[in-house]
Formats: sequence, structure tokens, C-alpha cells
Amino acid sequence: MKGLLLHLASVSVMALLVACSNSDPVNTLSTSKFEAGPLRTAADRAQIRWGAAVSVNPLLMDAQYRQLAGSEFNTLTPENALKFGIVHPEPGVYDFSGGDLIADFARANGMKMRGHTLIWHQQLPEWINNGQFTRDELIAIMREHIYTVLGHYRERYADVVIEWDVVNEAIAADGSRRDTVWQRVIGDDYIALAFQFAHEAWPELALYYNDFEDNQFMLLDSTFNLDGTPALDRPKGIGASVLLSDCSLIPKCAAMRSLAEELLAQGIALSGIGFQAHIASAASADYAKLTEWVEPLGLKWALTELDTPCPVGPLDAACFAVQANTFSAAARGCLESPACDTIVQWGVNDTYSWWPGFTFDLFEDALAFGRDYQPKPAADALLALFHQHAIPGD
Ligand code: G3I
Repeated sequence: MKGLLLHLASVSVMALLVACSNSDPVNTLSTSKFEAGPLRTAADRAQIRWGAAVSVNPLLMDAQYRQLAGSEFNTLTPENALKFGIVHPEPGVYDFSGGDLIADFARANGMKMRGHTLIWHQQLPEWINNGQFTRDELIAIMREHIYTVLGHYRERYADVVIEWDVVNEAIAADGSRRDTVWQRVIGDDYIALAFQFAHEAWPELALYYNDFEDNQFMLLDSTFNLDGTPALDRPKGIGASVLLSDCSLIPKCAAMRSLAEELLAQGIALSGIGFQAHIASAASADYAKLTEWVEPLGLKWALTELDTPCPVGPLDAACFAVQANTFSAAARGCLESPACDTIVQWGVNDTYSWWPGFTFDLFEDALAFGRDYQPKPAADALLALFHQHAIPGD
């Protein structure tokens, strides 16, 4: 199966679509319609957007994945299809095929879509990574990219796409600006410029700054402790697991807050903050507390990439129980906050989660639906929580 997927990844989406529609007539995503399942129904009644990150290949090739994606969520985020390197692989060349398939599928199933992501340092094409651009040239490239991508979806999918992660992961664990091509060549104002261009391109779209939390999960490049001292001996994979929910004590969170305040002071159209919530810790932050600075700024917040993995190995009921608590605690923070209306898990089910690939096969099974496509304890916990928050009469 893995070999097949790798092979398929190198084939264009259109070729896949033709191949699939020949062998399986239900495979045209724009007409794949599914009845709402229990979790989606409960999310609708709680008036919460409950979503999944989806990838094009399994959506085309795996009927169980398609069924689950189409029935148990009310919003979708393209996991990779709208990232710069995929959507804009060469200067002047745009490929919207993957993003459009996902948007068509969302529309067919009455779902919304969250765009992800316009300006990031990963999954950039070679022509950006290796380009020797001046500040003005890179600003012009950024403007064209944002205008073209948002222009495409504004024109064709304004009924589906409601929000977008404009800038992703621009702040390092110590609170400084992350060293990226955007930061190096354009400078500090690249974030404000990206939001300005996005707002010009699509004034009605909700625009988010999206980042992961360094209070409980430190990624491979997070080489600083919370006090700013280097943590170079940290093992590759998962870093220190420190539970803190006070934003002012977490350098990255404090920097996100300062960034939001600066953007708003400049009149930039920032709508909200995405807290990714890749939670690699048995303990779970109190998101209501961690985010309590957001609402007073007039902003919204969302859990944009929720997942929490288990160590690789046989299916682990004990880990799944902890995972259920973690999902539930994080989701409760959102449901109880008037400023949060969206919870997206980073994948559809455990078959396709990014965790094993990213952690050299140390972690897996991070989602609320298992490798058998069935709900896990985390899904049951969310269901109970959504029921508790059902809006009367809905
Ligand atoms: O498309 C190529 C394919 O041509 C090639 O054959 C194959 C070989 O490995 O790789 C394919 O690209 C991979 C791509 O996912 C699509 O599967 C990349 O190597 C791989 O690095 C990429 O990983 C994605 C990662 O972002 C990139 O940094 C993950 O799927 C995706 O889940 C992950 O998502 C990010 C969010 O965007 C931002 N927040 C963190 C989150 C997790 O890292």
C-alpha cells in the first residue's frame, strides 16, 4: 500500500482522476455525497466547525477515507494541496487541481473549507528557495502569489472557503522571528504585507496567523528551553514536555500576542489566531487560559491542527484513553470560549497521519479515527462534548 501511494504521489492529480473515474464511477469528488454521521451531526448542533485536514491521493483512491471525510466533518483543510510549492511550482505556473478537488468535495457535502497556507518556510518550490531576489522582487512575488491563489478561490469557491491561514509558523520557540527566506529578504514587515495583500485580494475572507505551541511540544528545530537557554541535547523527535497555559510565560505565545497587537495597531486585517495543537504530551494545556488574550483584542481563535500521537507499536488502549482526554480538554477550551468556533484535526484517520514520517517512525495513531476508520475513544469524547454544547432548538 505504501509503495502504491508513493508511486501515486508522483502522478498528476488529473491522471489520477481519469484512472479513478474509469475504475470507479463514484469517484468524481464533486458528486460524492455522504450522509452526515454522528460526530458531524453533533458538531452542527453545537454550531462548531469540526474539521479534518485532507490529502488528495487518499480522497481519490480510498473509498473508506472518502466516506469518513465526507460524513463526519463539516469543514476541511487541504493538508498540502494549497502550499506554495504545490500550487505555484514555477514562476507564473499555478496548479489548483488538488485544492479544487477538495473544494468541490466540500461543496458537494455542504462543508466549508479553510485555506492553508499562503506564506510559510516549508514546502517552498526550488525557484523560491534558490532564488536570489531583492526585497522588492520578493514582495512582488508574494503579492502575485497571494492575489492569484485567493483570486482563484474567491471567484470559484466563495460559498465554500471562509478562512485562510495567511502566515504560518513565523515565530521561533524563543519568541524571535524564525529565520526564513521571507524574513531574511523582506524583513519584519513581510507578515503585515502578506495580510495586507490577502485582504486586498479578498476583503471578506477571515485571515489567520497560525502557529504551533511551544508550551508542550517542541519540534525538531526548537532548540531553546522556555527560559531562552539552548537545549541542544534534546533528542530528535519530541522535545521537552512542559505544561504551561500562561501565555506571558511562553516566549512564542507572548511573541504571537505582540505580533497580533502590532498588526492591529497598524490597521492590518487580522481576523484570528490558529493554535495548531499538535499535542505530544500526556498533559494538555488549558486552551481557554492560553488564549484568553485573544478575545479582548477583538480576534477569534481556532484549534487548527489538533492531534496527539501514541508511541509506535501495537494499538494501545491506555494511550487512546489519554488521547481522548487530551482531545476533549483541548476541544472544551474552544467550545467554552466565545472567540473560538473551529476545531480541525490534522488528518482524517490514523492511516494517513503525518506523525510517523515526521518522527522517524517513533509516533503514530494521533487522530480520533483509527486505522480501521472507526471512531476511537477520542471521537467518543468529542461526541459527548459536542452533545453537551448542543444549542437548544438546533
Ligand atoms: O509530494 C511528494 C511526493 O512527490 C514524494 O514522492 C513524496 C516522498 O516522500 O513526498 C511528497 O511530499 C511530501 C508531502 O508531505 C506530501 O505527502 C513531503 O515529503 C512531506 O514533507 C510533506 O509533509 C507535510 C508537512 O506538513 C510538510 O512540512 C505533511 O504531509 C503535513 O501534514 C504537514 O503539515 C504541517 C502543517 O502544514 C503546518 N503545521 C505543522 C504540520 C505538521 O508538520
